[in-house]
Amino acid sequence: MLEFSQHQERVFFGMSAYFCFEGIPFHAIVHKREIIEESRDKFVIRDEDTVILSYPKSGTNWLIETVCLIQTKGNPKWIQSVPVWQRSPWIETKKGFPILINKEGPRLMSSHLPFHLFPKSFFRSKAKVIYIIRNPRDVLVSAYFFRHKINLIDNPESLGTYFELFLKGNVTYGSWFEHTRNWLSMRENDNFLLLSYEDMKKNTRGTIEKICDFLGKKLEADELDLVLKYSSFQAMKENKMSNFSLVPEHMVTNGLVLLRKGTTGDWKNHFTVAQAEAFDKVFQEKMAGFPPGLFPWKYP
Ligand code: A3P
Repeated sequence: MLEFSQHQERVFFGMSAYFCFEGIPFHAIVHKREIIEESRDKFVIRDEDTVILSYPKSGTNWLIETVCLIQTKGNPKWIQSVPVWQRSPWIETKKGFPILINKEGPRLMSSHLPFHLFPKSFFRSKAKVIYIIRNPRDVLVSAYFFRHKINLIDNPESLGTYFELFLKGNVTYGSWFEHTRNWLSMRENDNFLLLSYEDMKKNTRGTIEKICDFLGKKLEADELDLVLKYSSFQAMKENKMSNFSLVPEHMVTNGLVLLRKGTTGDWKNHFTVAQAEAFDKVFQEKMAGFPPGLFPWKYP
């Protein structure tokens, strides 16, 4: 079994592939200890900011695309001319942080940070957060295939290996269970919108309307049609500003695919019966206390 301590030993382009900050693994090409610390302690989130928040592989980029299109009332010019990571920079990344601190006016930003590492200023602000969750089994499968293609991290040798690491939280951004438990504690707050990948798939238009209400944006029916059209799986797959084809080549092996399948329940094609049972057990233990109806997938 590959443990995180072994990941740390790995050297990538002359530097350690990972570092651990307060128990959470981060990859060193994209992140820097000082930035994680500064973003938590000093970065000022303003009342007029909007943050897109998720555990990785939950449909974050789909949500970013949707929010960008809501902001432009369906006009695709912005999403077709500016890479997704510049439209909604990542607070905790080496590239995103400087963009955000130098930006005036209301900002759109993204983050995968767990609750305890998130900018403290947010908790005193009226900034809006949209948190998207997804069945962690599908998150696991999506992450496994994505990480297979990216040089930033140790490519897990098999799904079985990644499965064990995921259940232990020995993966980038730490445990899905901790991330979700802690952020869900905010779900009753007025400035916190909880969405799920599953609901977004089932009722995309309804979800877009929910986001519009939350952000105080009024879109006409034809503008909503355009948001739907340009944020569809196919449209995003063809948009080089959104499909990760602009990720620098040295970070990628065999072609990085962000828009892989875009379905719910793909885990059933990959988990063994034993893995499915083991996952259920851990889910029940770690997520005890939440109403089962909160999760839009078959409980547990
Ligand atoms: P799969 O790997 O299961 O296909 P993130 O943006 O958080 O990294 O999440 C990536 C997942 O969201 C991928 O899941 C990807 O296909 C899916 N996704 C991205 N855009 C989508 C869209 N427009 N419609 C449906 N799924 C989308």
